[in-house]
Amino acid sequence: MTTETTLEPAARAAASAPLLTASDLHITFPGRRGADPARAVDGVDLDIRRGEIVALVGESGCGKTTLARSLLGLVAPTSGRIAFDGEPLSYRSRALKAYRKRVQLVLQDPSGSLNPRHTVYEAVAEGLRIHGYGGDERAAVGEALSRAGLRPPERFFLRYPHELSGGQRQRVVIAGALVLEPELIVADEPVASLDASVRGEILALLLRLREELGLSALVVTHDLGLAWNIADRVAVMYLGRIVETGAVEDVLTAPQHPYTQALLSVLPEAPGEPVVLTGEPPDPSRVPSGCRFHARCQILASGEAERAGVARDCRTTDLPVLSGAGGTQVACHWAAVRS
Ligand SMILES: Nc1ncnc2c1ncn2[C@@H]1O[C@H](COP(=O)(O)OP(=O)(O)OP(=O)(O)O)[C@@H](O)[C@H]1O
Ligand code: SF4
Ligand SMILES: [Mg+2]
Repeated sequence: MTTETTLEPAARAAASAPLLTASDLHITFPGRRGADPARAVDGVDLDIRRGEIVALVGESGCGKTTLARSLLGLVAPTSGRIAFDGEPLSYRSRALKAYRKRVQLVLQDPSGSLNPRHTVYEAVAEGLRIHGYGGDERAAVGEALSRAGLRPPERFFLRYPHELSGGQRQRVVIAGALVLEPELIVADEPVASLDASVRGEILALLLRLREELGLSALVVTHDLGLAWNIADRVAVMYLGRIVETGAVEDVLTAPQHPYTQALLSVLPEAPGEPVVLTGEPPDPSRVPSGCRFHARCQILASGEAERAGVARDCRTTDLPVLSGAGGTQVACHWAAVRS
């Protein structure tokens, strides 16, 4: 037996070379109505390894979808680099088309991503047709539906989205991604619109696909509980930057960044008092100087940063971009002097 086959999927992922690498990524949108440009993604390094599930978490507007869309080749970065399987991402149309077969998007709202006038069969076959698939289309559609847990697949071929439950619709969306045999799935809030029991089933499906197909996934969510259930690694994003990253069990059981601590403190099962963040919600057109979280930071507000001798740095000194590789990393002056 080789070492490869004895390793758990997460360990295999950690041992392998990155499938996707983003380096010093910046995505800036023109300012609206005279505002300064919006630095939606403002210096991000991120690696996703084969067979690894990475959760990207953070509150609304922090840049998760923009980052995810850039990894899919849907938004060209203003600066920085994306490489897939060791090759720089090319934005020439043929190369992008080939790339979009290998990296598939699964969207949040299954009703919105399915055409109500298309049958399940047509919805799943669409990607094959776009990519000029020359094999047995019916067999490929059937296999993708089976893999997504819709069995026997023939029973679903002629159904329309409105004849399915929310969970079944999400499975059709996942089958539509799987049919192209991608290596990476980018799932933007894949279960946000589903009720709790169906969410569990869809998450279990994503985990099974990782085990069976060696799929990698970036799962975008503002739900830390979801990250806990599904991901190997988590990246916490605040105002265009990743502020803490590491193995899920390390970051979520011993968060070091005050922002991660605040996010975790409001979960229903969290011990102690919830940390209610004060100050303006983040605006990517007005990124503060110093630590970008400083105007809302509970550690700075409570005087703890002052006592640790870093309060001035908090207000004036920006923090370096965290490297996208494994291991826990934190962008915080206070966390740095505590460790
Ligand atoms: N096309 C665009 N033009 C201008 N600003 C944009 C554009 N797309 C996104 N933004 C801005 O970039 C920031 C990040 O948006 P993004 O959609 O990536 O956030 P998000 O983390 O996915 O939020 P949510 O959790 O609400 O989905 C927001 O301030 C948003 O207003
Ligand atoms: S660097 Fe300072 S302001 Fe920023 S999160 Fe850390 S303690 Fe808070
Ligand atoms: Mg989003």
